[in-house]
Amino acid sequence: MDSSARKLRVAVLVGRRGRGSNMEALAKAFPPNASSDQPAEVALVVAPSAESPALEKARLLELETKVLDDRQPDFGSSLAKALEESQIDVLCLAGYMRLIPEDFLQTFTGAILNIHPSLLPKFGGKGMYGVAVHEAVLAAGETETGCSVHFVTERYDEGAVLLQKTCPVLADDTPETLAARVLNLEHEAYPEAVQLLALRFDRH
Ligand code: GRF
Repeated sequence: MDSSARKLRVAVLVGRRGRGSNMEALAKAFPPNASSDQPAEVALVVAPSAESPALEKARLLELETKVLDDRQPDFGSSLAKALEESQIDVLCLAGYMRLIPEDFLQTFTGAILNIHPSLLPKFGGKGMYGVAVHEAVLAAGETETGCSVHFVTERYDEGAVLLQKTCPVLADDTPETLAARVLNLEHEAYPEAVQLLALRFDRH
């Protein structure tokens, strides 16, 4: 890597009830203030509630955290302000279930990514989250599934796909065994996608 390039500054937006395992995978791949020549760093974790389980994980990882209530009408502008203050280039949604407010989409000039536990455009859209995705994959008789990292738009799971990883669906899979296999894949895919983006970004 060009050592004069600055690191891509990443914020992770976790879910209200999110475990935060993707946030953890990103933070372990790109820890803040690390001296290595990694191309990115997780500079901020945003949670929509002080009760979000992912917050505790973030604090243990010594990450900067911020709680912004996404049920407030000014959530979009508060998020934009927080990201600007932390000079964030990329916002990674990780378990965040709601649509991102339009005012934020219009003002934020960085990239916004999401990770989804299926091979989009299959098994995406409203209501397609958690175990429902894997139940649908099994019901459709798919022999292969996986995860997708995609750009975020004003609609659920519709932005351009940046990276996908696949895994087999086994004959004796349950939604739970499939969810676990795909989640492991997600923890590889998200850091790889951020790395890809960092290579495309002008970081001078
Ligand atoms: C993941 O399955 C992700 O694909 C989906 O929400 C889940 C978040 O899990 N968008 P975690 O909170 O990162 O463990």
